[in-house]
Amino acid sequence: MKVLVTGGAGFIGSNFVYYMLKKHPDYDILCVDCLTYAGNMSTLEEALKNPHFKFFKVNICDRVSIYKIFEEEHPDIVVNFAAESHVDRSIENPEVFLTTNILGTQVMMDACRKYGIKRYHQVSTDEVYGDLPLDRPDLFFTETTPIHTSSPYSSSKAGADLLVLAYHRTYGLPVSVSRCSNNYGPYHFPEKLIPLMIANALNDKPLPVYGEGLNVRDWLYVEDHCKAIDLIIHKGRVGEVYNIGGHNEMRNIDIVKLICKELGKPESLIKHVGDRKGHDMRYAIDPTKIHNELGWLPETKFADGIKKTIKWYLENRKWWEDIISGDYQNYYAKMYNNR
Ligand code: NAD
Ligand code: TYD
Repeated sequence: MKVLVTGGAGFIGSNFVYYMLKKHPDYDILCVDCLTYAGNMSTLEEALKNPHFKFFKVNICDRVSIYKIFEEEHPDIVVNFAAESHVDRSIENPEVFLTTNILGTQVMMDACRKYGIKRYHQVSTDEVYGDLPLDRPDLFFTETTPIHTSSPYSSSKAGADLLVLAYHRTYGLPVSVSRCSNNYGPYHFPEKLIPLMIANALNDKPLPVYGEGLNVRDWLYVEDHCKAIDLIIHKGRVGEVYNIGGHNEMRNIDIVKLICKELGKPESLIKHVGDRKGHDMRYAIDPTKIHNELGWLPETKFADGIKKTIKWYLENRKWWEDIISGDYQNYYAKMYNNR
């Protein structure tokens, strides 16, 4: 079996590459990634030593190069992780989100149609459902919750989801879609909440919490997400959407305090800063469908996952220090100075 993974030099894609190489040692794993600011070759250092792994530095919007890969490699399964993924960046500059997340998805699916495929899987997000109110803890996102997006990021992901499902209905492309809650774990780019707070705390820098920090996210350890996708591409029904989440809701402020505690840093580092525009209040997934149909359940509890994640950032300082010493500094100054 040959699995083509796009966005495999990023956070979840790289974790998926490692998961698949370990779980299916006889599979060939191809990675397509154009290495934006979020993609990192050092993340794939170990994978590159494996003869079952191959890397292509290609943009998913580049139709000619994508078709060439399909013509030469004939993948059986495509898992599309490649995307612009950060809400704050989408608020600053929406255009590249629409280009990569929607048009790039189209190119990948056109290649699948042209060359034939057993399964095209689209990695989507719970953010396509918009948000839930804080005073209704009884409400959860199900697969039938209407799409109701808030940010240019979530709108671009929703556009891609609709296109994927349309390619199934119109052309019979064997697709599936998964919508996962917030992930955390190794190789998470330090612009996102958890790795940013770990890196700043370790450097005794202020911890910028947007607004009051009461927003709730439903956190899932990245390996549990990878396991769910592996199940869906092998056993999930074609044309279906599967929600992935572990009933693990946390307020941002509580996460930041927990990180301070784990690292032995004072909470006085916490600095409340201007809120995100259009900030979603609460995400919460109902994972009943994937549990009932595929037997998936998350395995890592947040209390253990956050410890493992912090340990990884302590043991892999070079990985994130290299990132935050480069262009990231301009990004950080633009987003956080005078906020
Ligand atoms: P990431 O930003 O860490 O990685 C994205 C990767 O895609 C990078 O390696 C980047 O170089 C690559 N990429 C971007 N544009 C590309 C293009 N045009 N062509 C080829 N490669 C390109 O993102 P992530 O957090 O790993 O998210 C992966 C996927 O999972 C995304 O589709 C995202 O929407 C989805 N998702 C993420 C989360 C989360 O909590 N991070 C939750 C649910 C769903
Ligand atoms: P983030 O990791 O960007 O994921 P998403 O917006 O896709 O859920 O942010 C998680 C939450 O943390 C979100 O409510 C915004 C908040 N946040 C901060 O308070 N400070 C920060 O510096 C960042 C990056 C995020």
